[in-house]
Amino acid sequence: MHILVTGGTGYIGSHCVLELLQSNHTVTVISNLVNSATDYKGQPLSLKRIESFTNKKVNFKKVDLLDLQELEKTLKSENFDAVMHFASLKSVGESCREPLKYYYSNIVGSLNLISVCKKYNVKNLIFSSSVTVYGTSTHCLLKEDDAIGEKITNPYGQTKYMLEKMFKDIAKSDKDWNIICLRYSILVGAHPSGIIGEDQKGIPNNLVPNIIHVIKGKIPYLTIFGNDFNTFDGTCVRDYIHVTDVASANLCALNRIIEEKNIGFEIYNIGMGKGYSVLEVVKAMENASGKKIPLKIMPHRVGDVEYLCCDPTLAAKNLKWSTQFNLEEMCRDVINWQQKNPEGYVNKDHENLKTG
Ligand code: UD1
Repeated sequence: MHILVTGGTGYIGSHCVLELLQSNHTVTVISNLVNSATDYKGQPLSLKRIESFTNKKVNFKKVDLLDLQELEKTLKSENFDAVMHFASLKSVGESCREPLKYYYSNIVGSLNLISVCKKYNVKNLIFSSSVTVYGTSTHCLLKEDDAIGEKITNPYGQTKYMLEKMFKDIAKSDKDWNIICLRYSILVGAHPSGIIGEDQKGIPNNLVPNIIHVIKGKIPYLTIFGNDFNTFDGTCVRDYIHVTDVASANLCALNRIIEEKNIGFEIYNIGMGKGYSVLEVVKAMENASGKKIPLKIMPHRVGDVEYLCCDPTLAAKNLKWSTQFNLEEMCRDVINWQQKNPEGYVNKDHENLKTG
């Protein structure tokens, strides 16, 4: 199969590209490289590492989904069997400060992509969504047919919700479309080899990246946003998942589209189906790093819900997918990536670096 991967230079996309190559698919990646380090020729460092690791070639084109003409050229020049759509702006905080940028980039970019796919008859699509679409807190595992959209707290989450709705309507309008939305829980980890991982710039917002900052000595302590929630240890509970398990879920979704055909529109939760508290994650990161993490308890963060975990039973059944990695392994791999690449991709490739 020849797969077009949007955002294939980024955190999730790059892990998926690696899995696709290892499954002998041909891969073309398009990216605007906004958050990706490149060498002096403008080649993404994540893909260069994947090529040397797998000894296989990735086709890469610098294309922004907002550039309809370039996008059209890409689809016109090759026969793709399916599209995996990872490209997205994804910072919750930034989306609140710059909602227009998020709505424009995520919504218009995806509209361009799907309209060009329609024109060139590439009607198999796998879309990266998020459990954020549930926007709610319940102490039950969330299921795919639970209500979505009601209490989403930020424009990033709204774009995922709107795009799911849009893809559903498109699939309904024409039975040739096969569209699978994968709702990921919180991603942690890196490829166990340590060659690729999350190359995040700037000040992090999320739990594990903040713990890494403490371990590296960039901040003196981890802020815990509340220890008086109605959970077993008072801190919020979330469902975490290893990025390699997310990549394998995408491969399983692709196999379903190829084998079943005429699936129309489907949604799957991609998580562990098991929650961990903030303090449990801290403990697991302490064990993986061998370092004590100083903590400071602060008031609740606005918009935080106390419990958010999803039920992956449907994905296990229909996609024949299951997780391979537990929380300890997520933490082990994120520490391994950090130790091998303290400055992200810049580390080993600094002589070729163009952007940071
Ligand atoms: C985040 C996103 C959400 C997305 C999800 C999965 C935000 C606000 N939400 O969820 O849209 O669907 O990832 O990708 O970013 N915490 C601390 N101290 C910290 C950071 C976090 O105590 O320094 C706590 C939070 O209060 C929360 C838990 O850790 O209870 C997880 O937080 P985080 O990693 O930011 O993820 P979510 O906000 O749950």
